[in-house]
Amino acid sequence: MTHGPSDLPFSRLGARLHPPAIAALMNTALADPGMLSLAAGFTDTATLPAEAVAAAVAELAARGGPPEFLQYGANRGREGLRRLLAACTAVLDGLPAGAIDPERTLIGNGSQQLLHLAVAVLADPGDILLVERPTYFVFMEMLGGLGVEPVGLPAAADGSLDLDACAALIADLGASPRRARVKALYLMSYFGNPSGLSRTETEKTALAQMLARAGLVVPVLEDAAYRDLGFERPWPARSVLALEAFDAFPRLYLGTLTKPFATGLKIGYAHASDAAWFDRMCWLKGHEDFGTANFNQAILERIIETQQLERHIAMLRARYAAKMRALDAALERGGLREAGWSWSRPEGGLYLWLRAPDGVDTDGEGPFWRACMREHVLYVPGGLCLPAPVDRRFVRLSYGVLADDALAEAAARFCRAAKSMTAG
Ligand SMILES: Cc1ncc(COP(=O)(O)O)c(C=O)c1O
Repeated sequence: MTHGPSDLPFSRLGARLHPPAIAALMNTALADPGMLSLAAGFTDTATLPAEAVAAAVAELAARGGPPEFLQYGANRGREGLRRLLAACTAVLDGLPAGAIDPERTLIGNGSQQLLHLAVAVLADPGDILLVERPTYFVFMEMLGGLGVEPVGLPAAADGSLDLDACAALIADLGASPRRARVKALYLMSYFGNPSGLSRTETEKTALAQMLARAGLVVPVLEDAAYRDLGFERPWPARSVLALEAFDAFPRLYLGTLTKPFATGLKIGYAHASDAAWFDRMCWLKGHEDFGTANFNQAILERIIETQQLERHIAMLRARYAAKMRALDAALERGGLREAGWSWSRPEGGLYLWLRAPDGVDTDGEGPFWRACMREHVLYVPGGLCLPAPVDRRFVRLSYGVLADDALAEAAARFCRAAKSMTAG
C-alpha cells in the first residue's frame, strides 16, 4: 500500500480538505503514552453511564416481539425519541407542551453531522457565515472544507459581544456586495466551546435586531451542545426558538445527548423552524446514511422515558464543576497568573479559555508548544478557534476527560512550560 502525494483528480471539495486538527492532536496524544491531554473535548470516562445503558439494553431485549430496534430506522430518527426531545427543549425554553414540532426534529449521528447538513444545504464555496470570536474549531474546519468563509462577530474583553462593533460590522456587510454571500449566523449561546461563556437574551435580541436592520434575515444555527452542563444552574436565557426578535428568521436549534450522557452513542438532534431547510437536511441525510443508528436511539429513548437522563445530568453538573475547580486551582497554585496568564472561571461546560501574556505565541509548533511537548502536556492552540484576524495568544484547556490527579499533574506541567517562556 502506498501513502503520500496522489495524482488522483479530486473534486474541488476533495482537494480543499486537510487532515482535521483534532485528529492530529489525538494522534500526538496516542503516540506518547506519557502525554497528558488537556486538548480533546472528551467527557469524563469514570462517570460514563454503563449501568444505565446495560439496564436499558436488557429492558429492550426483554420486551418480546420482533427486535425492531435492530432494524433500520427512519431517516429522521425514531418518532418516540423525537417526541421526547421536542418536549425536553420546550420545557427548557418555557414553551407550552407541543410548541416544538417532533415532525421538524431530526436525529443525527451527533450534532456534528447535523451542523454539517445544515451548512451544506445553505452555503456554497465563497459564501460567508457569521460566527462568534472565539468559536467551535471543528465547525470552522468544516467551513474550511466547504470553502465557506467565517466572519467573526467582534467581542469585548470579557467575551460578551461588542454590540457597537457588531452593529458596524453587520451594517457594513448589509451595505456591501458581499451581503448576498452571508448565508447564516452560527451561535453557541450556552457555556460555549472554547469560551465557556453564555449569551444573554439581550445580546441575542440585539443581534437579531441588527441583522434585521441590515436586511440580513438569514438562517440562524444555535448550537446548544453544552446547555445541560451548567454547574450551579441552567443558563436562564431562552433559545432563539423562543425569542420574539428571531421570529422572522429561519432557525435551527441543535442539541446533543453525547456530552450530557454518552459520547459513544453519538446521538444529536436538531429542531427546525423552517420546513424547506429541514426537508433539505433530511434529503441530504438520506444520501449520507438514511438514518442514525436505531439501536442507539432506542437506548436513549428508554433512558429519557425513565428519567435517567435527568439524574445523570444532575450528577455530571456537580462532577464537571468539581473538575473545573480542580484544574483552575492547580493552575493558580502553579503560578500561572503570576506568569502573566489570565482566564475566568466558567459557569458550565468543559473548557477553560486562557490568554497568554503578550509575546507568547501559542500556535502549534511554536516555542510554547514545544515547551509543552517537552513537559508531555497537550492543549488546543487558541488560534484554531479564532476567525481572522489571527490572534495567537489563547489556549483552550479541557477538564473533561482526565481524572483529578492527572488534571493536577497536567496543570503543573502546563505551568512549568508557561513559566519557562518568561524565565530569564
Ligand atoms: C460546540 C459543539 N457543538 C457540537 C459538537 C458536536 O458534538 P456531537 O457530535 O458529539 O453531538 C461539539 C463537540 O465537541 C461541540 O463542542
